[in-house]
Amino acid sequence: MTQYLKHKIFQIIKEIAGQENLQVFVIGGYVRDLIMKRPSKDIDFVVVGNGIELAKKVSSKLKGKPKVAVFKRFGTAMFKYEDFEYEFVGARKESYTPDSRKPAVEEGTIQDDQNRRDLTINALAISLHPNNYGELIDPFNGLQDIENRIIRTPLDPNITFSDDPLRMMRAIRFACQLDFEIYPSTLQAIKENKERINIISKERITDELNKIILSEKPSKGFKILDKVGLLEIIFPELVALKGVETKNGFSHKDNFLHTLQVLDNISKNTDNLWLRWAAIFHDIAKPVTKRFSKHGWTFHSHEFVGKKMLPEIFKKMRLPMNEKMAYIQKLVLLHLRPIALVTNEVTDSAIRRLLFEAGNDVDDLMTLAEADITSKNERKVKQFLKNLENVRKKLKEVEEKDKIRNWEPPISGKIIMETFNMKPSRDVGIIKDAIREAILDGIIPNEYDAAYKFMISEAKKLGYITPVKD
Ligand code: CTP
Repeated sequence: MTQYLKHKIFQIIKEIAGQENLQVFVIGGYVRDLIMKRPSKDIDFVVVGNGIELAKKVSSKLKGKPKVAVFKRFGTAMFKYEDFEYEFVGARKESYTPDSRKPAVEEGTIQDDQNRRDLTINALAISLHPNNYGELIDPFNGLQDIENRIIRTPLDPNITFSDDPLRMMRAIRFACQLDFEIYPSTLQAIKENKERINIISKERITDELNKIILSEKPSKGFKILDKVGLLEIIFPELVALKGVETKNGFSHKDNFLHTLQVLDNISKNTDNLWLRWAAIFHDIAKPVTKRFSKHGWTFHSHEFVGKKMLPEIFKKMRLPMNEKMAYIQKLVLLHLRPIALVTNEVTDSAIRRLLFEAGNDVDDLMTLAEADITSKNERKVKQFLKNLENVRKKLKEVEEKDKIRNWEPPISGKIIMETFNMKPSRDVGIIKDAIREAILDGIIPNEYDAAYKFMISEAKKLGYITPVKD
């Protein structure tokens, strides 16, 4: 493995290990990613001995002597240097008590330390001692599991998962991120231990979900989460989309599979986590709005109800209740609009209205609408995409002409109040809205003079007369 150890920090640690006869190893995700040729910015070291002391020694030999942050309680220390984060810890032996995630920690050997890790592919270590510098320490055949693309725990999976139930999420996340398969007994243990996820904080669960969502093909992770029964616990609203109902010969599609397809589709076109979340949420209200009429199944207003459902779900899942949520709400609310514009005789005013409502997010909305086309019929998909491409063109043309995206009507509430000597009131809003609507509908051009004239006539209807200026 020596060929991998290019970083100068490895040489520095080798020297220290030789001088002090310390068993030091680079371990965990960094080794996995080295072997898999994936980029990685966090490097973890384990020393049989004191990790904090080693971190300080290493830092003192580096240019600029990076500041070492010490976490005494955990016996760890870390520093940042040239874009990398280095963490040092003493080798540990751990035992957990069943009702808590706080382990009782004892000093241990490298093998003890590897035993307590989550997955065989994350338990690989490379020695940095001069005697066996570069030797891979692989007691659980992690290398073979990387080659065979297998996710499995080093020890009995029931112990590994029960010790730290977040590892169930991690196992699924790695299967999805790396496109690996979970070993049958490991998968079975997740099924058996799924309820223990409840002792893990929602933030950490959502962090793992985010990593699944940012994978190349996120549906893989969601399907495993569903299969083992974790999804029902952590995200029941998504599971509620599952299933097909048939009545009087009418069926609707399985909205769970559809949603996952939309998520995969959109992931090909964007790395924006929040746009990917919008894909997950776009049909979230279909189960609660589902009705049967003589013409078949309907999901009326699911876009509106979906938008309303989000704050509660966000709160529960500890998703950010800020402008990110507002952005997703907007996309959920508007997700059907682009496809509704797919007709030849679509008017400029309909296009203007969408530009006004979507604002700067109109391109993301189009990306969502395109991903939402999941017909099995290739020809149909092509036709819909072509139609949406035309909508994109029209949006661009109208935007270039009318500049509606970040638009504020040319007459503000302040101008209305000053012109008619009015106090803030409902009437100011009525006049302002009327001007905005007239411009969006193309009744008057988007210009100050025309809007001013229109304001006078609207105000007159409400009984306001322009005072003659001196
Ligand atoms: N680890 C573990 N159990 C956990 C979390 C981490 O055993 N619940 C161990 C694994 O050996 C892991 C290492 O700690 O490789 C470092 O953890 P972390 O930095 O969270 O994960 P990485 O494997 O480096 O992967 P990523 O950065 O993608 O999360």
